[in-house]
Order: sequence, then structure tokens, then C-alpha cells
Amino acid sequence: MSAQTTPCSVETAAARALPALLDRAYARYSGFTVAAAVIDEHGRTHLGVNVENAAYPSGTCAEQTAIGAMITAGGRRIDTVLIAAGSNAVVQPCGACRQRIAEFASRTCEIVSVQDGQPTARAAFWDLLPQSFGPRDLTP
Ligand code: THU
Repeated sequence: MSAQTTPCSVETAAARALPALLDRAYARYSGFTVAAAVIDEHGRTHLGVNVENAAYPSGTCAEQTAIGAMITAGGRRIDTVLIAAGSNAVVQPCGACRQRIAEFASRTCEIVSVQDGQPTARAAFWDLLPQSFGPRDLTP
């Protein structure tokens, strides 16, 4: 198995974990709950929810929370991002989260939508953010 391929069982387990996590989202202002999971290069899953703030721009997306958990745990590469919304709709990461994911995304990173605890729609991450600014641009 390629190091960049997320085993199905890991992805399925992450998808199953997201609906329950939606209850922990702090979406006091928008009422729009989101739960995310990132799977790192070791096949480990890191979870996050959106955390809003009375000073609205200070709120954080679920993907951002999950990336923070990954970095804190020592992960450095994202192979898969799973996203579930309380609305149960397919939600793609916002522009700011695409940039955050880009910092760590593997060449084959996928964004996977989760509905009713099941992986549904899939997108190749680099199709969602081609020609981005990234770490290599800061290298002389
Ligand atoms: N949100 C996320 O957490 N992830 C996304 O990909 C889209 C939007 C959050 C931010 C805010 O707390 C709420 O959803 C409404 O925009």
C-alpha cells in the first residue's frame, strides 16, 4: 500500500465518528455545526469542530481545529480530510481552510464529504486549490 493512501477502514471509522462530534461544535452564532477529521501520514485520525466567537472573525472552522490537533500530535502531512455538517449537506472547505490544508496536503490528498456517518462525495484537494501560494514560494 502506498504511504499516501488512506486505508478504507481508517476513513470509514473517521466518517462514523463525525455525526456524534457535531454536538460538540460551538456554533452559537451561525447555528451551522461542522465536524472534521484529518488523517495524517501515519494513518492517525485527528478530530475538530467549529468554535465560534462573540467577536465573529475570531471563530475557527472545524478543519482548522482538526489541523491544530494533528500538528499537536506530531503529524505533518494530510492524506484525507473528512467534513460533516449538521445540515447533512455536502460542504467543501472554505477558502481560508483550503490554504490551511494546502500547507500540509499530500500530493494525493482527498476531501471527503460525510453524510449520515458515511463517506459520500470525494474531491482531489489540489483540484480545489490549484496554483496556490505555499512553502516552496518562500524558498529562495
Ligand atoms: N465552517 C467550518 O467549520 N468549515 C467549513 O468548511 C465551512 C464553514 C464553519 C464556520 C462557521 O462557524 C460556520 O461554519 C458558518 O460559516
